[in-house]
Amino acid sequence: MCGIVGYIGNKKATPILINGLLSLEYRGYDSAGIAVIENNEICVLKDKGRVANLRKIPEIDTLESSIGIAHTRWATHGKPSKENSHPHLDNSKQFAVVHNGIIENYNELKEFLCSKGYKFLSQTDTEVIPNLIHYYYTNGISDDDKFLRAVKSAIDDLKGSYAIEVISNLYPDRVIVVRKDSPLVIGTSKEENFISSDIPAILSYTKNFYLLDDYEYAVVYNDHIQFFDNSLIEHSKAIKSIEWDATAAEKNGYEDYMLKEIYEQPNSIRETIGTRFKLGEKCCFDDIDINKEYLKTVNKIYIVACGTAMHAGLVGKVAIEKLCNIPTGVDIASEFRYRNPIIDENTLCIFISQSGETADTIAALKLAKEKKAKTIAISNVIGSSITRVADYTIYTHAGPEIAVASTKAYTSQIILLVILAMYFAENLESCKKDVLDNLKVDILDLPSKIEAVLNEINGIKEFANKIYTEKDMYFLGRGNDYYVAMEGSLKLKEISYIHSEAYASGELKHGPIALIENDVTVIGILTDSNLVDKSISNIQEVVSRGAKTLVITNQRLTNNNFDFIINVPETNNLISPVLSVIPLQLLAYYISKNKGLDVDKPRNLAKSVTVE
Ligand code: G6P
Repeated sequence: MCGIVGYIGNKKATPILINGLLSLEYRGYDSAGIAVIENNEICVLKDKGRVANLRKIPEIDTLESSIGIAHTRWATHGKPSKENSHPHLDNSKQFAVVHNGIIENYNELKEFLCSKGYKFLSQTDTEVIPNLIHYYYTNGISDDDKFLRAVKSAIDDLKGSYAIEVISNLYPDRVIVVRKDSPLVIGTSKEENFISSDIPAILSYTKNFYLLDDYEYAVVYNDHIQFFDNSLIEHSKAIKSIEWDATAAEKNGYEDYMLKEIYEQPNSIRETIGTRFKLGEKCCFDDIDINKEYLKTVNKIYIVACGTAMHAGLVGKVAIEKLCNIPTGVDIASEFRYRNPIIDENTLCIFISQSGETADTIAALKLAKEKKAKTIAISNVIGSSITRVADYTIYTHAGPEIAVASTKAYTSQIILLVILAMYFAENLESCKKDVLDNLKVDILDLPSKIEAVLNEINGIKEFANKIYTEKDMYFLGRGNDYYVAMEGSLKLKEISYIHSEAYASGELKHGPIALIENDVTVIGILTDSNLVDKSISNIQEVVSRGAKTLVITNQRLTNNNFDFIINVPETNNLISPVLSVIPLQLLAYYISKNKGLDVDKPRNLAKSVTVE
C-alpha cells in the first residue's frame, strides 16, 4: 500500500515523479504529493484524490528542481485529506519525508515530541518521522554525517514497517532512503538515480536496480549511491539487471489494464510453462533444490497466501494431493501467522504472492522458517521481498500485473502449482506416467483453449448487461469449481461493489438456500464430469425457487432450464479453473464497466498490501 517515488539527477524532477506516481497509483490512490528543493527551500505540493488532481495544482509546472520525493497514499492513519497527504515536513520545514508502511508506536513518539514542543498538523503516523529527524539533528548528533545519523536515530525509534525517503534543504544533493518490511528499489543510470516502491514504475528510465534490504540505508546522489548497514558501516552492493520490457507495463490500446491482462492469459500461461517441461520429458525446476530424498521426508504441505493467490493455492492443493499423495492444507496468511500452526522440518510450506510484498504472507513465511520448515515462494515480481526470505523462489513470469484485481497472475499461479505437483510426483514416483503425460498435453493445449474462450465473449457481455444493477449474487460449485466460484465472487465484489458469496454446492441446503428468492442471480460452475449431476441438481433447486441462472460448463447439458450457458473447452479437471475463471473475470469486468466504475482502481483496495 502507498507508492513512493524519488529522483535525483540532471533533469527536472517533477515530470519524472508524476510519471512514477501514475505507474504506482495502483498501490493507493486517495491522495498524492511531491516535495522538491526549490531555491534552497523545500516545496511541498499535495492534495487528496488521484495523481490527476496533483497535476492540476498550478505551481507544479513551475518547479525546476532536479531532486524530489513523491507519494501516492492508501490511508491508514487519518482520513484522505490534504493535511494527511505525504510528503510531511518537520516543524522547521528542513526535512521532508514520504513513508509507506505503519509506525505502530507513533502515539508514544508523538507524545514525546509534543513534550519537546513539536506541533502536529496531521493525523498520520508518518509525521513523527520528520520531527524525530529534526529532534536528533538538533540534539547532540556529531557533525560527521549528521543528516544520515539523525535519520538513523529516528529510524531506531520506530516500531512497525516502513520504506522511507527523506530530503533536506540543508543537503540538496542527496536523498536518504531506508526500508523495513516495505518494498523499495533504486534504479541507477548515468548521472541520475530513481527510487521507487516497485520496478515497473521506473523501468522506462533504467534496467539496472539495487534492491534494498531490511534495515539497509542508501544515500542517493545524482552520480553515486552509498549503502550502509544498520550500524552505518558502508558496504558495496550488486546491481541487478531486469529484463522486463517497459512496454509490458503499458495499456497497449486496451481501455483498462484488467482487460489487457485478461487477454494476455494465453501468453502468460506459455511464459509460465516456459522450459519447465516438454512432452515426453520430466518436469524441471532449476530454481529449487528439492530432491527425492527430501520429498520422501515431507509429511505435510501448507500453501499460504492472501486473496486471489490463496484461491490459486486451493486449486494447487487438489493437484498436490492427487498426484503426490501428501496431505496439503491451504491457509489465509493473516490467520496462519497467528494460529501457531504445527510445523517442523518435515513440513514444506509454499507461499504465493503475485507482488511478493504482502505483509501477512511474508510474516507467515518468516514464521515457517523459524519453525524449520523448508519454504518455497511463488511470486511474479523479480527480487520482491518474499523472494529474498524464502529458501527457494519460483517465478510465475506472467509479466507485470497492474490492475488491482488479479487475473493473469492467478491462472499462472495455478499452472505453476500443477507443474510443481507433477515435478514432486515424478520424484516420488507417486503417480502413473501416462496420467502425467496426459496432463502435460492438456497444459500445453491451454493457451489455444484460452484464446477460444476469449473469442466467444458475447454471451458474457449480454449477461452482464442484464444483471449489472443487481445487489447480490451467488456462486456455486463443487471441488475445483467451488474454488473458481470463490475467485469469481471475489472478482465481482472487488470491481463492481456487488455483494456476492461463493458456496460449495453441497452446502446450499445448510443455510444459503434461505437467501434464494425470485430473480436472485446464481452462477454455477460445472466442469467436473464426476460431480456434474450433483451440481446440476443443486442448481435446479435454485431454479425452482425463482433464481436467474448462468452456468459455466464444459459438459453437454441436456434438458436443463438454465437462463444462460457459457461453454468452455474440456480439459483435465486439475487445470479446468484456468478456463472456467475467464468468463467470470470478464463478467466482473463488464459489470463494472456498465456501472461506470474505475475497473483498474477499485475503491478502498490496493494491489500490494504491505501492512497488516
Ligand atoms: C490484494 C490485491 C489482490 C491480491 C492480494 C494478494 O488484496 O488486491 O488482488 O490477490 O492482495 O496479493 P499478492 O501480491 O500477495 O498476491
